Amino acid sequence: MDTLEMIKHRISANKFDTSKSLSEDEIKDLVAYAAHAPSAFNIQHWRFVAVTKPEEKERLKAVAYNQQKVADAAVTFIVLGDLRGHEKLGEILQPFVASGNMPQGMADGWVQTTAQMYSNPQLARDEAIRGASLAAMTLMLAAEAKGLVSGPMIGFDPEGVKQAFGISDQYVPVMLLTVGYAAPGNWPRKPRLSVDEVMQFESGKDL
Ligand SMILES: Cc1cc2nc3c(=O)[nH]c(=O)nc-3n(C[C@H](O)[C@H](O)[C@H](O)COP(=O)(O)O)c2cc1C
Repeated sequence: MDTLEMIKHRISANKFDTSKSLSEDEIKDLVAYAAHAPSAFNIQHWRFVAVTKPEEKERLKAVAYNQQKVADAAVTFIVLGDLRGHEKLGEILQPFVASGNMPQGMADGWVQTTAQMYSNPQLARDEAIRGASLAAMTLMLAAEAKGLVSGPMIGFDPEGVKQAFGISDQYVPVMLLTVGYAAPGNWPRKPRLSVDEVMQFESGKDL
């Protein structure tokens, strides 16, 4: 399936084949693809907790309004956004400086700029959610390319998830993301608004 077909083929899955699991390497490979997503200043605000063990999935399900797919999927990722991701930026840019692609002065400037920008908690949170969401979408497309199905979920208690999995306040739970093999009974792709309803050229129309 080519990329455009894959985009149209993806659905948000509810039913997963509970007899099929994913190996640690397969799960890591999905995250490796997700990490190709773009992010502001290449900060890569995304972090993932891969929940695979039955007892851990049950704990997650309990703070996700008992949505059964959390337990049925081969893996349910807790997708997190790092509110202090920019603190690693110097380290992140180092290889790019070393390879001669970016002058050291520019890297230092980015580090300074981001420290100032993300001292604004609202912007830090917005950016963490933007970055992690782009990674989650990339992961869903990688899953689709591998013949898997996925399901993004906002139906969970963020504080409950943080408590149950020992996640500190440095991270904001952005979404849960189930991934696995499809079982029969999934809905087909749901209808979408038309392009005219979601896009305008230039100004002049009230969306
Ligand atoms: C951010 C986000 C949160 C969602 N949360 C849930 C959820 O908690 N439970 C659920 O069953 N579906 C959830 N969904 C799935 C949506 O209902 C689904 O993507 C939408 O209906 C479109 O379905 P389709 O992708 O299969 O066409 C969520 C989707 C997104 C993008």
